[in-house]
Amino acid sequence: MDLAGFVEPGSQEAGLLKLIDANRVPKHIAIIMDGNGRWAGMRKLPRVAGHRAGIESVRDIIESAARLGVDVLTLYAFSIENWKRPKREVNTLMTLLKEYIQRELNNVKKNNIRFQAIGRIQELEKSVYRELQHATDETKENTGMLLNVALNYSGRAELVDTFNRMFLELKQNGHRTPIDEDVISRFLYTSGIPDPDLLIRTSGEMRISNFLLWQIAYSEIYITSTFWPDFRRRHLLEAILEYQQRDRRYGAIKKQ
Ligand code: FPP
Repeated sequence: MDLAGFVEPGSQEAGLLKLIDANRVPKHIAIIMDGNGRWAGMRKLPRVAGHRAGIESVRDIIESAARLGVDVLTLYAFSIENWKRPKREVNTLMTLLKEYIQRELNNVKKNNIRFQAIGRIQELEKSVYRELQHATDETKENTGMLLNVALNYSGRAELVDTFNRMFLELKQNGHRTPIDEDVISRFLYTSGIPDPDLLIRTSGEMRISNFLLWQIAYSEIYITSTFWPDFRRRHLLEAILEYQQRDRRYGAIKKQ
């Protein structure tokens, strides 16, 4: 964990960092980044200003998670349902995403982060798709944190895609034995990635919003009222600290 050198000595973050057990940092953190619109509304700004401000949180959280030794960070950036938003807002989100990749790719590479997009990304506009492919390609040899960005994603659509691919392949291979959970996991967008240990949702809504439905079966859920554009390293440390105080039992009884 090399975050120590990046927090101000004596600051609240430094205090939180001291309380965190470096050996029990969640391996996979998934985040529903919510509240950009309300953040902007409270400041009498257009919703897109909230998304723009949210990019700063994205940058801060990616760097912090990587330095904390998180193996996988999954960010819910655009759901299939988000297409119902005004065209201008959708366009801004896509532009912000492209700009983010163009501006931050070098930094992502420098931090040994591997980039990947999950979702029906082939349905995105060509220029966005190309940018995503470029970032994936350029970082594929990296061995540090995997940054998974969920785009044009929904949990149910993922299951539909998973089952279709699975049935097709199993049929081609003449597979006859019943499928099990491991087989299904292998066909998910997140194939080969451990399930999230911690799911964070900002802005206080008590919903899953069609995110990683299969994968969060045993994830610890942390909901904070902080809006996404205000969610920074300190808030991530608080979430990890609370996670470490939970008792994960996976349906078993409490250990004596
Ligand atoms: C939710 O706030 C946020 C989103 C739908 C988009 C999140 C996207 C970004 C921060 C930018 C792109 C991401 C990356 C990875 C570069 P909301 O609009 O639903 O807020 P509200 O619930 O207050 O209306």
